[in-house]
Amino acid sequence: MNLPSTGAVPASQAAAHFTKLRASGHGPTDEHSAAGQRSAHQPATRVTVAQPRIPLQGRLLLLGCGSVSRCLQPLLLRHLDMDLAKLTVLDFDDRATPDADLMEAGASFVRHRITPENMDATLRGRLGPGDLLVNLTWDIDTGDLIQWSQDHGVLYVDTSVELWDNTFADHAATDPTDRTLYVRHMDLRRRAATWGHRGPTAVVEHGANPGLVSHWTKVALTDIATAMLVEPDRLPAPLDPARRARLVAALAEADFARLAMETRTKVIHISERDTQISDRPKEVGEFVNTWSIAGFFEEGTATAELGWGTHERRLPPGAHTHTDGPRNQICLARPGMDTYVRSWVPLGGQIEGMVIRHGEAFTISDHLTVWDGDRPRYRPTVHYAYLPTDAAMASLHECRMTGYRLQDRQRIMADDIVSGADELGVLLLGHDLGGWWTGSQLDIKEARELVPHQNATTLQVAASVLGAVAWMLRNPNRGLCVPDDLDHEAVLEVAGPYLGPCPSIPTSWTPLAQRGYPFEQVTGSRPHDEDVWQFTSFLTQ
Ligand SMILES: NC(=O)c1ccc[n+]([C@@H]2O[C@H](COP(=O)([O-])OP(=O)(O)OC[C@H]3O[C@@H](n4cnc5c(N)ncnc54)[C@H](O)[C@@H]3O)[C@@H](O)[C@H]2O)c1
Repeated sequence: MNLPSTGAVPASQAAAHFTKLRASGHGPTDEHSAAGQRSAHQPATRVTVAQPRIPLQGRLLLLGCGSVSRCLQPLLLRHLDMDLAKLTVLDFDDRATPDADLMEAGASFVRHRITPENMDATLRGRLGPGDLLVNLTWDIDTGDLIQWSQDHGVLYVDTSVELWDNTFADHAATDPTDRTLYVRHMDLRRRAATWGHRGPTAVVEHGANPGLVSHWTKVALTDIATAMLVEPDRLPAPLDPARRARLVAALAEADFARLAMETRTKVIHISERDTQISDRPKEVGEFVNTWSIAGFFEEGTATAELGWGTHERRLPPGAHTHTDGPRNQICLARPGMDTYVRSWVPLGGQIEGMVIRHGEAFTISDHLTVWDGDRPRYRPTVHYAYLPTDAAMASLHECRMTGYRLQDRQRIMADDIVSGADELGVLLLGHDLGGWWTGSQLDIKEARELVPHQNATTLQVAASVLGAVAWMLRNPNRGLCVPDDLDHEAVLEVAGPYLGPCPSIPTSWTPLAQRGYPFEQVTGSRPHDEDVWQFTSFLTQ
């Protein structure tokens, strides 16, 4: 793996951080390196990952048998220590096919659609106290599922906060703020206030992003603060003793909000570039993606949403704010799929990604806020900068051309992928070291070696669900949790072996570094240097 030349430190130094998140002894066996010689689209032999098995006494109901669920099923078979006759997979779609090995091992499959009317009857016979509900669908109301789980002593985990029949909702007919994830989180909080803090653990939004990115943010903040303390030569100016003492205290207490404030982190991008390509080109009238097309369409056509930092001097055009709750987010009256920002990933370099709304923009910015009474003293700007596959980009363009109507034909890439990687992480900017990226660089070869017939994107998500399940079973009475509430080291220890190389490295990239817009001299639109970390300096359209 070649490290990028970031300009901030020599690659050899950065390499010290590079394998940090890969727990020793958890990597793939030797079979892995031999399998690495195969061509990308050949099915790989299954490799074993040295991991303790996760004991589960009760039943497990897995809702959804789509792309993430199909990737999770072999992991459940591999890692759960349970009577598999107690595991049921449920999906309404005729095309949904559960993992054959899991079924052979005793699990069962039910073809059924959950609706508000039949939810109670569907869950009642299948779940009870101590059992686990894993929700990987897109149109069942998260709040209703958690309410039911709380009432029946059931543990709950999902990868996104959803509403009934939300996927094809008409965003244009509603006030932008009313359809935000912010409003959904406020509703969940209101419900959680009635559940008590020690109820059955219910973890929401624990996939790759939202999910792993909250944990990587903590790793990045720890690494930035450590580097600032132990490698003073990297700093533009020496730390004054008082600030040094505050950094040391925040590190010792694992107080990540104070770490973010004391490192002077201003912006956090969830930066992702997915370079997976298929040997089957996208056809006209077809939407091609590496994960849920319904889920992507829903969030892509919704308003762009972002955590709004205290360093920001002016709201961008079309911004709307909220009137209740922590008010840590704004939304823009434009679809996330049409809102582009400059960002950066280590292998892919500078990218233009979309500010697609995601739960982590809410939870990370909320958890990193330092309050002065009811006034936010410090908060970073947090948002997604998503560059999906070339096929997905072409699919979005076609969807936009037809008035944001989803194509009838849809395909999730799997065995047809010939090369590429999903490079997903967090990019922390504006602190004393400039920039820092922490995340996963999982390529299709390694993904297939780890879990045959799956792609890099779904494996990052499924590994995270597995990590959350392991944590929940050890912490069954935590009530409602977002990823930021979980122990990041415990989750990454379980998920890490499935994530490929996980660097945590500095970068000197800034949004002004490689602008190169041909007519900037004429339009005078280049931001001033002192505005480098303002949201509008990242925004391209
Ligand atoms: N946090 C993350 O990193 C992350 C990443 C990818 C996907 N996701 C989310 O995870 C969920 C699953 O993603 P996916 O890629 O597997 O999606 P998918 O579309 O491939 O599969 C979802 C499955 O759920 C089934 N389903 C939907 N509503 C149902 C209902 N009411 N009753 C029964 N079955 C129902 C569908 O038939 C489908 O097979 C989506 O909500 C998606 O947005 C989160």
